[in-house]
Amino acid sequence: MCGIIGIVSKKQVVDRLIDGLECLEYRGYDSAGIATVNNSEIVYSKSAGKLDSLKNKLKQKPINGYIGIGHTRWATHGEPIEFNAHPHVTKSVAVVHNGIIENFAEFKDALLKKGINFESQTDTEVIAKLVEEKISKEKCRPLEAVRLTIKKLRGSFALCFIFRGHENFMVATRRGSPLALGFGDGENFVSSDALSLSIFSKKVCYLEEDDFAKITSDEVIIYDSDGNSVSRDMHTLYTDPVNLSKGKYKHFMEKEIFEQPEVISQVLGTYLNASKEMLSLPPLPQSTEIKRIILIGCGTAFYSCLVAKYWFESLSSIPTQAELASEFRYRSPVVSKDDLLIFVSQSGETADTIGALRFAKEYTKNILAIVNVEQSSIARESNWVFSTKAGPEIGVASTKAFTCQLLVLKILNIKLASDLYKITAKQRSNLLKGLLELPRLFSEILSQNENIKKLCKKFISSNSVLYLGRDILYPIALEGALKLKEISYLHAEGYASGELKHGPIALIDKSMPLVALNPWSKVFEKTLSNLEEVKARRGRIILLTDKKGRELSKDLTKSIFQLPSCSDFLTPILYSLPLQLIAYYTALDKGTDVDQPRNLAKSVTVE
Ligand code: F6R
Repeated sequence: MCGIIGIVSKKQVVDRLIDGLECLEYRGYDSAGIATVNNSEIVYSKSAGKLDSLKNKLKQKPINGYIGIGHTRWATHGEPIEFNAHPHVTKSVAVVHNGIIENFAEFKDALLKKGINFESQTDTEVIAKLVEEKISKEKCRPLEAVRLTIKKLRGSFALCFIFRGHENFMVATRRGSPLALGFGDGENFVSSDALSLSIFSKKVCYLEEDDFAKITSDEVIIYDSDGNSVSRDMHTLYTDPVNLSKGKYKHFMEKEIFEQPEVISQVLGTYLNASKEMLSLPPLPQSTEIKRIILIGCGTAFYSCLVAKYWFESLSSIPTQAELASEFRYRSPVVSKDDLLIFVSQSGETADTIGALRFAKEYTKNILAIVNVEQSSIARESNWVFSTKAGPEIGVASTKAFTCQLLVLKILNIKLASDLYKITAKQRSNLLKGLLELPRLFSEILSQNENIKKLCKKFISSNSVLYLGRDILYPIALEGALKLKEISYLHAEGYASGELKHGPIALIDKSMPLVALNPWSKVFEKTLSNLEEVKARRGRIILLTDKKGRELSKDLTKSIFQLPSCSDFLTPILYSLPLQLIAYYTALDKGTDVDQPRNLAKSVTVE
């Protein structure tokens, strides 16, 4: 994780470094820092805590420069204190780092033995010290010093360096972690992501593994790992910077929840053609050649994989499994060339998912990315890309990206089922019509947000909350629990309703709130029986259901939120929405930092 930024310009850069860090804060917010070269000397400022704390420091003690680097940290090695904040600075060099240096300890030991002292507990400081040695003792030029140092490192990194005595020259390199370059007029930029560059420049390119870039205000030269000068594809950014503001909302998460009707309409508009009965999709693998589907993701993205497993098996009749990316490649899974592997990721930069993708590529070419960031590493390394088109998601807790992942997976499901003649044209048309109902259904639920707010009062005094769902709503119960714990810090667990009696029911007493997802469906009565078991033990049930479910549950609980009735296949998408609102309003009640919850970061670029 961590966000890094670099600017070389003919104008002062400090304010813009801070603007860039603001856009990158979603990658970590344990500390922040910047360094510039001014009058040939490296000057820097860093501070523990959020970016605001660095801003205050800079107000009291400003620094200047036409070249600079900046960092916002998600702590890996060493506590989130000022000493461990980046940039790490020696006499000749300052560096910012995103990633982990796995073999830093051996270098640190060797340097300590040579009498070189360390200020921090970080892996990154080792890089600064190694480059310093090359420059001051071995008399290497800066680029060579970096190149020789990087060769020795194991792990993942995106790095940006500035050097004493060089006010118009920086070096950037990457392995494993992403790095984008932005091209301006008389200035050039480096950043962990293109989104943050969109405020400075619309022209970007992405460094490939082990590339080095030598960057001045007028020129960028990229070298590959063998030292050959190379060119990388240029891309134009279309992101409207206005999208990056909260608008009338208090939090990005709130905005992202409430914009879902519009976002879903746009996704539908992109992938369903004018007659609304046909799909207009990006190129995708041949359906008839797919023998099995393996869906892979982490966290919320994994839960969309789980939902899709139900969909793919029931509608397309293709054997499907859902896998946690962090487990997948380490358990020697069997992957064959006829398998379709689908990697689901909002950011497209999740290290666990990238690791699983690279492993899978050794066995099959059928690699499909479902990502929100179209130019991300996962998209670039896949053979096919199906964009979720949710727009930038800034709140750390995923909301609209999740519902758009589900939507895109459902569209893919309908396409496969149709191509494989598992459904008729009429059935396909009905399914598509069902999807077109979603924006209206979402708006209907959002208009009742006050009722959800009231229900959330039931959580405020509890220590733990259980979420229950059966069949296709089981993954949504898992997602609801994840959302609640990550932003309200309340312990929550999701269970398959039928599993409760196999252990977790021991937790039920009158202090335990339980959120049950039980609209009318083929499993309604089974779940109702499970909920009666909870009631018999005095658990406090908060029921999310539809009209018919409400009528049949009136003796069960008074805490009911009624959702509009819809086809079974839409319920995972629809029932996600009140769970997002429950998490959001509970966090508001608890007074937590909704958009930047503690210990988390939006893009998890370390394993
Ligand atoms: C939870 C959340 C995370 C991410 C996970 C994967 O709200 O956002 O669980 O879903 O870290 O991230 P992506 O989708 O970027 O691969």
